[in-house]
Amino acid sequence: MAGIFITLEGIDGAGKSTQAGRLAQWLEERTGRKTVRTFEPGGWPGGNSLREFILNGRGFSAMSELLMFLADRAEHVSRVILPSLRQGHNVICERWNESTLAYQSGGHELNPAHVKRIINACNFPEPDAKILIDISPETAIERVKSRKNNPDKFEAEGLAFMKTVAGFYRLIAESEPGKFIVVKSDGLNEDEVFAAITSRLEAMT
Ligand code: TYD
Repeated sequence: MAGIFITLEGIDGAGKSTQAGRLAQWLEERTGRKTVRTFEPGGWPGGNSLREFILNGRGFSAMSELLMFLADRAEHVSRVILPSLRQGHNVICERWNESTLAYQSGGHELNPAHVKRIINACNFPEPDAKILIDISPETAIERVKSRKNNPDKFEAEGLAFMKTVAGFYRLIAESEPGKFIVVKSDGLNEDEVFAAITSRLEAMT
């Protein structure tokens, strides 16, 4: 039987990594199955060079950026995600198709319908649940500033960019209410965000 596939979404600084770690442990204990924790871009063997290329490159057109994120996902799917699920492991993945929709069509203004069509044509596996940590861009940007002195180009794009991306994420989540768990995390501590996520996941796992 295939494992459970869960993705975590949110703008930079939303707290995805912290929750992914806790969630992986929780899911492993709850299901008794090994749980693979991974991320995009670059979460496959050898993927770091493509990650660095995409995130630190300069002057790519929005379309080639989109195609590079999808190439990264294609490798991630074939080398990590599908083999893990087929072996019966669960997978927790930071960022997925919704990052591409929110950043490349929301943030970088590609036509959303076109981006959606291109993503759909890739036929990547569909997560069992998608989690959106919905944090205010103001809070997130302060966190990002405090944790890195050299932000990558997406993080460096600033508040207006983050606001657009956050707005896109909300629309995406609203369009799939049965699949998305949305946690508004402003004013919540790490434990409270985790509790909000797991209480919703309990019904599904
Ligand atoms: P990363 O540092 O991994 O994100 P986080 O801040 O969440 O830890 O950087 C990934 C960056 O790549 C992030 O700014 C979002 C961007 N991105 C896209 O624009 N499109 C995509 O499809 C993916 C997967 C990421």
